[in-house]
Amino acid sequence: MITLEDVKNNVEIQALIKASNQVLESMDYTEHGLRHAGYVSWTSAMILEKLGYDEHMQELAKIAGYVHDIGNVINRKAHGVSSGILLYNILKNMQMPYEDICTICSAVGNHEEEIGYVVNPISAALVIADKSDAHRTRVKRLTQGDVHDIVNYSIIKNIVLVDGEKKIISAKFYMDETSSVMDYLSIFLSRMIMSERAAQYLGCTFKLYINDVVINTPKKLSD
Ligand SMILES: [Fe+2]
Ligand SMILES: [Fe+2]
Repeated sequence: MITLEDVKNNVEIQALIKASNQVLESMDYTEHGLRHAGYVSWTSAMILEKLGYDEHMQELAKIAGYVHDIGNVINRKAHGVSSGILLYNILKNMQMPYEDICTICSAVGNHEEEIGYVVNPISAALVIADKSDAHRTRVKRLTQGDVHDIVNYSIIKNIVLVDGEKKIISAKFYMDETSSVMDYLSIFLSRMIMSERAAQYLGCTFKLYINDVVINTPKKLSD
């Protein structure tokens, strides 16, 4: 089986992650390099592990999380679609089974909130992991007046917690006073709505916390 380690050792993928990050850096976007890839990879697999998915599914989630943003090398718009198209041949050349390639490409190609749908368990885990990665370390150059920068910079801690028994997935953000919940929602609301859908796909309730206060109205409260 192709593993995350194999993917990490693939020079094509390493070059694509690096180049994608450079494209976004030139657009003054937040960090999308190896740190983001590693966080989304680890968190996606952790979500599936806590919900009892097998090791094969966890490994596919690790891979999808690691490579989901490589399409930014082509263009920021529809970058998930570009990622999926680029990945198909790379993973085929690595001798990954076609079924697994399709699962990963569908998940990656649907991770953007503007055009994506939750299409399989890997996709659901990837959405929750990706949308939860907001943190001050992602801000490369703090631009005053840029609400994305201001909100990200104010987040001093972010964490995803999964209660496999109660079927609750919690995304927790801790912000300092340099931004506000209103600012957060003004830019991240659609991402959190997609995360709610993703949690429901996995049979779970999604709870969004900011500074330990629940912000959303969880659809299926079980506690
Ligand atoms: Fe993305
Ligand atoms: Fe991402």
